Amino acid sequence: MIYYTYVLFKNPNLAIIGTQWGDEGKGKIVDLLAKKFDYIVRYQGGNNAGHTIIIGKEKFAFHLIPSGILYEDKNCCLGCGVVIDPQVLVEELTNLEKRLNGKFAPLLIDKKANLIMPWHIARDQSTMTKIGTTGRGIGSCYTDQTARRGIQIGDFLNKNYFKKRIEEEVENHKTRLPSLKADIIIRTYTRLLTKILTNRKVGLVDLGEVLDAKQSSKNILFEGAQATLLDLRFGTYPYVTSSHPTVGGVLIGTGFFPQNLKTLGLVKAYTTRVGNGPFPTELSDATGKFLQKNGHEFGTTTGRARRCGWLDLPIVRYAKRVNGLSAIALTKLDVLTGLKKIKVAVSYKINGTSAPVFSPNQTDLENTVPVYETLAGWTEDITAARKFSELPKNARAYVEFIEKQTGLKATFIGVGPDRDQTIKR
Ligand code: IMP
Repeated sequence: MIYYTYVLFKNPNLAIIGTQWGDEGKGKIVDLLAKKFDYIVRYQGGNNAGHTIIIGKEKFAFHLIPSGILYEDKNCCLGCGVVIDPQVLVEELTNLEKRLNGKFAPLLIDKKANLIMPWHIARDQSTMTKIGTTGRGIGSCYTDQTARRGIQIGDFLNKNYFKKRIEEEVENHKTRLPSLKADIIIRTYTRLLTKILTNRKVGLVDLGEVLDAKQSSKNILFEGAQATLLDLRFGTYPYVTSSHPTVGGVLIGTGFFPQNLKTLGLVKAYTTRVGNGPFPTELSDATGKFLQKNGHEFGTTTGRARRCGWLDLPIVRYAKRVNGLSAIALTKLDVLTGLKKIKVAVSYKINGTSAPVFSPNQTDLENTVPVYETLAGWTEDITAARKFSELPKNARAYVEFIEKQTGLKATFIGVGPDRDQTIKR
């Protein structure tokens, strides 16, 4: 039996979670798997994410809306752990209406999802340099949520309360952001939210209740944005995002307990990182440039060039522990084609002492030296391979090496950007 069908069909619920610093190619795998699920749910993050899906000659880039939206017969959802910039949501919905003429999935939004307000964007942009944030107001929005100063999308249902909350927050920001005008914000947000909530495809719900009621009869796919090392708690703090992309985020980002949940870890065949912070296997040489160019490693959201380096297995093992990974999808294997030798970090030395386990601690990371094993590369084009046996010997050996080192089966192997350029096992 193909292992992936086992993972999927014996278990009605699956979370897709990045194991590295994001951009592992989740959009394509979610899109590929979406047809097997009834509900596709985003549980954290906002429009700091970027998913690109290529179908034939059509390219779709989403920042907020789940990648499964292209399937008309599915239900796409934004959970309470997501933060919503209404301007972005209107743009994505308008674009979908235009290109697909309404033929896309319904979108259910949890009433408790917090709104990204103009003061969040302004505050993020004034402090973004150290962390290298996307400048979309994500961190400030979560900060206000934690400080109990957030505005939820459901607050819009009570117009007087919504108006009062905006006036209060503009007043609270008057020293730092004197140019904010409550009446303009109220008018703009009323226009945007009315547009969203009157869209015939959109519903405002208690998502936990909806999903819990469906859990014995429907399959749910949880689509993580960002990744394990960007998790606020388990990532490389402080160089992280402000939400929980790890599996714990599924519960607090939806409001129910998904029975029989399995987790599929997304592992890019090498490592990339956008933004600042330590990166033990980073390559600042011609090989790093080769990976960046061949892998088109430029951000979907900000267009920033991603830093590139060798695959780091202690990171994957760490993600396995934090998320209880059931299997992995190994993406972008084709990008390595043409390299004579491929290095893989198998363990670390931290301050000269052997350390088999990844530590997200900032000081440890700054003193981490990877211990590499070198594998032989391949030159054959692998983009047409659809079976594992069709890969060149050295590419198979690379995959098997990763599986052995992590104890995780690579159930999907990406050999090109198209939805179909995937080996399933
Ligand atoms: P924020 O999420 O905009 O607050 O940015 C915090 C950190 O997370 C920065 O280093 C960003 O570059 C990084 N980040 C946020 N979203 C993504 C993503 O989708 N892929 C990769 N990095 C991301």
